[in-house]
Amino acid sequence: MKIIDIKEIPGYDGLKFVRIIPALIKDPLKKLTGIVESGGKIIPFRLGKYHLYLINDESLLRHILKKNYENYPRGESLEGIKPLLGNGLFTSNNEYWVSQQKKIGSAFRSKYIESFFPVIEEETKTFSHILDSVSNSNGEIELQDSVKEMMLRILIRTMFAKNLEFDTKRIIKELDFVLDYTSIKGAMVRRIFGFPLKLTGVAKREENKYNQALEYLNNFAYKIIDDSIAGKLETTGLLEILTEDIKTGAISRLQMRDEIMTFLFAGFDTVAEGIIWFWYLLSQNKEYLEEVRNEVEILGIPGTLESIQKYKKLTNGIKESLRLYPPAWAFYRIAENEDIADEFKIFKKAYLMISPYLMHRLSKYYNAPEKFYPERFDEESNPEFSRFDYIPFGQGPHICTGKRLASTEIALISALILSKYDFEYSAEIPPQITPGIIIKSKTPLLFKVKRVKGL
Ligand code: HEM
Repeated sequence: MKIIDIKEIPGYDGLKFVRIIPALIKDPLKKLTGIVESGGKIIPFRLGKYHLYLINDESLLRHILKKNYENYPRGESLEGIKPLLGNGLFTSNNEYWVSQQKKIGSAFRSKYIESFFPVIEEETKTFSHILDSVSNSNGEIELQDSVKEMMLRILIRTMFAKNLEFDTKRIIKELDFVLDYTSIKGAMVRRIFGFPLKLTGVAKREENKYNQALEYLNNFAYKIIDDSIAGKLETTGLLEILTEDIKTGAISRLQMRDEIMTFLFAGFDTVAEGIIWFWYLLSQNKEYLEEVRNEVEILGIPGTLESIQKYKKLTNGIKESLRLYPPAWAFYRIAENEDIADEFKIFKKAYLMISPYLMHRLSKYYNAPEKFYPERFDEESNPEFSRFDYIPFGQGPHICTGKRLASTEIALISALILSKYDFEYSAEIPPQITPGIIIKSKTPLLFKVKRVKGL
């Protein structure tokens, strides 16, 4: 086999890269989907000292994410977000990550997840009151904000404590600010417009806002830790495990803070987007929505983890929605040492991009990839465990810790809501997807809501 040095692969270099920038700014996912469909297994983007290698092949992903995963940490790709996440499960490596993963993983066992059902149902009921008032007034709802608030409340009450008091909107506001500020886009704007931003004082103001947001989140995390140690909280899931550890001295206060931040970062926004895009797709595919509804009518609302597997229409619909709109649309790896992956030589420090969104739209893996066609999963119960061309939750040892919880939340909440409400997309223009850390619509996702049952 002839080995190809990835440095030698022609790609979007210099001027060729500059030429695609306008299209990337206008509609990045559309442009990238086209590039990937007609490109090779690895597509380089090189501008000055910045080199990025986009990987579009399932065998290569198997190598990078599983076979030789230790050589490919997330590393510097998370540098900007380190002040928020510290050395938690998302950012750590090696032995520390192994021990944390083992410990924290137990908060995601079936018995724990099933014990979360009443909280999930309670919060869904509160959300349905909002839907009732929208439906009664014949108004509209912007789903992104409202579902996000519901999911943050569920995360905090299931993973931390049932009786914790917190300001949902403020936490979301501060977290969004930190994530925007530390995003690649934020860093690029600061680099390109550094001088005028400094001169006008905008840079300093933004930096202060960032520091204040981080301080607010830190205070929130440390209050949880102190109240939990003092026995003031009805701890659940993750916090129950971490509190035991801090009491025995197995972890420090700082480590506990890092894990709380990691779960705030990873555990609610992603699920909210997963739910929203599923409901959006069903609003565009009414026949399938009816099939999901009939299934829920026949089987009732799922009561156990095992029973959710019987809801084929519902679960396949969710898998297909996570294929078309994987909330974590891209993630990154950095080669620690030179390596041979299939026919490619990957140099030390190569910056690799892996995109579930782009992989899921490749015609070499999916027939009619743009089509919502849940039946494509009829034969497979757990494609996310075995396939490297279906990676909404990543793959290999660093696969999403909250995968089962997230899928369960989407299924349970959707069964409860879709059996009672109909959503009609009512914004004047189609969703304008923007790929930040997760995919979102930059225009409001407005829906009219109609009650379909009197339950
Ligand atoms: C639909 C919802 C979700 C999606 C699409 C999603 C997606 C992902 C992806 C793609 C990764 C791997 C990233 C990489 O390899 O660099 C990941 C990792 C992770 N996710 Fe999720 N996630 C979701 C929900 C959750 C939830 C609910 C939690 C926790 C409550 C969570 C916690 C984590 C953690 C801790 C990791 C790091 C795992 C490790 O490195 O060992 N995620 N997630």
